[in-house]
Amino acid sequence: MLPRIIGHRGAALHAPENTLAGLREAARQGCRWVEIDVRLTADGGLVLMHDPTVDRTTTAAGRVRELALAEIAGMDAGARFGAAWAGEPVPALADAIAAAHALALRLDIELKCDPGDSAAAAAAALVREIGRAWKADEPPLISSFDHAALAAVRAARADLPVAVVTPALSDAWREPFEALGAASLHVGQRGLTQESVSPLVAEGIEIGAYTVNDAARAKELLSWGVAGIFSDRPGAIAAAL
Ligand code: G3P
Ligand code: MG
Repeated sequence: MLPRIIGHRGAALHAPENTLAGLREAARQGCRWVEIDVRLTADGGLVLMHDPTVDRTTTAAGRVRELALAEIAGMDAGARFGAAWAGEPVPALADAIAAAHALALRLDIELKCDPGDSAAAAAAALVREIGRAWKADEPPLISSFDHAALAAVRAARADLPVAVVTPALSDAWREPFEALGAASLHVGQRGLTQESVSPLVAEGIEIGAYTVNDAARAKELLSWGVAGIFSDRPGAIAAAL
């Protein structure tokens, strides 16, 4: 399912992460797939945001789960990245889906849930939004560190492929991976070795490795059978391969 290179948060080294400008930049760099992070707002909306707060990536402050969709959508997610990007808004998921369709990009929608967040509510909002906004033939891939959120997505929409995200292969990923019938396993790349990766590849497990910004490391991981690389500089990695 995974392509060899997936733009991470768009193309996060080249355009503000998790913005429509980031999707456009990833497409310009030749990506066919992009990963985005999505969070539930106080009023049941979904916005593109990696952190639990808007503090790092926007010029505003506050917790996503305590802010309304309209409040967050008015925030500037570009200025902190660079003056040339000032005014770039925080997209609602629906806007990102529409942009992805227009750019012929496939999406890995990573649903973020932190302690205290309702995985069920986040999953329900995601399923509702995909039902409304997704128009492409191929479905999005839904990924998460939160296994309960993925289970809730699968219970509502068994046709949506899901991916388990885990920081390391030493973590407890296999039980949820098998129980969910996950399409792929997305693993933090730092601890990956040929010895840890090869047996899983031989088993037929599709592995995505994040976040790989070094071309030599990307080549190494792919040579071991890793299916896809999540990169903040997807164009440069593609050019080097
Ligand atoms: O989905 C893969 C990767 O994005 C997970 O880590 O922290 O960059 O969302 P993070
Ligand atoms: Mg992510």
